[in-house]
Amino acid sequence: MSRIVVTGRIPEPALEKLRTTHDVDAWEGSDSISRLELLRRVAGADAIVSLLTERIDAELLDAAGPQLKVVANVAVGYDNIDVPACTERGITATNTPGVLTEATADIAFGLILMTTRRLGEGERLIRAGQPWKWGMFFLLGSGLQGKTLGVVGMGGIGQATARRAKAFGMEIVYQSRSEIDPATATELGARRVELDELLAISDVVSLHCPYGPSTHHLIGAEQLAAMKGTAYLVNTARGAIVDEAALAHALRENQIAGAGLDVFEQEPKVHPWLLEVENVALVPHLGSATVETRTAMAVLAAENTLAVLGGKQPPTPIT
Ligand code: GLV
Repeated sequence: MSRIVVTGRIPEPALEKLRTTHDVDAWEGSDSISRLELLRRVAGADAIVSLLTERIDAELLDAAGPQLKVVANVAVGYDNIDVPACTERGITATNTPGVLTEATADIAFGLILMTTRRLGEGERLIRAGQPWKWGMFFLLGSGLQGKTLGVVGMGGIGQATARRAKAFGMEIVYQSRSEIDPATATELGARRVELDELLAISDVVSLHCPYGPSTHHLIGAEQLAAMKGTAYLVNTARGAIVDEAALAHALRENQIAGAGLDVFEQEPKVHPWLLEVENVALVPHLGSATVETRTAMAVLAAENTLAVLGGKQPPTPIT
């Protein structure tokens, strides 16, 4: 029987899977586990099932010990894991691609609608008890039909967002490390362009690339200045892909029309300037937050864990 440390609360079906054959030590606190407590708990673990709020670095891997075989992240993004440090120690790292694609694309599209149609502003106005009545020019937004969506990072979530945009009558351009498969490109009518062109021609720019050194502040002052003054930026990927201070400045100066953010540079902190501008919709990292999706993510992480502990190839290793 192996010892599995789970760094936070996860849905019961995943815990049941793990408990059937293994000894599970799951953090049950409503708040995130402290770093000290995590370092203490992982000692002697054969597997760690991690949440994206926990940093899995060399110090933590060493605190676990040489018997550690797998780190199974309950997230598709794995910027919280030092993958080279895992590889050096012969530890398999896994993530949960695929199962959260649709839920995250829903939130990306929700933010596109929130920001282009000023839904957050309208909601805040009513809740603040401000007087209002229907008016020809009251809270006018911007329609999506015939406009261009620029997808930065055309993996599964980018494609699913593009599919929604196409259904709304948008044209699609994308920037990606590689060309998408021709059938999908034809289905979406999607054209691959360089980032500069994407920024210059898109009416909505939606970010779906992974976060890492090459995408840190990919969207900063210069890129925001390259966008149309009528364009919107949406980020459901990772906060630090955008320079938040530069974005807040661009929004304050009406350099772009608006933004929708599900992720932030220093979660759960939000840059104070963003709280002061009306033309931004802010939601607290809800991309995968449905009962179905979170359950599927946790179950996939459990399957990854059990496969590695059983000497098998996990379904979704980080490569
Ligand atoms: C959520 O942000 C994820 O990476 O799964």
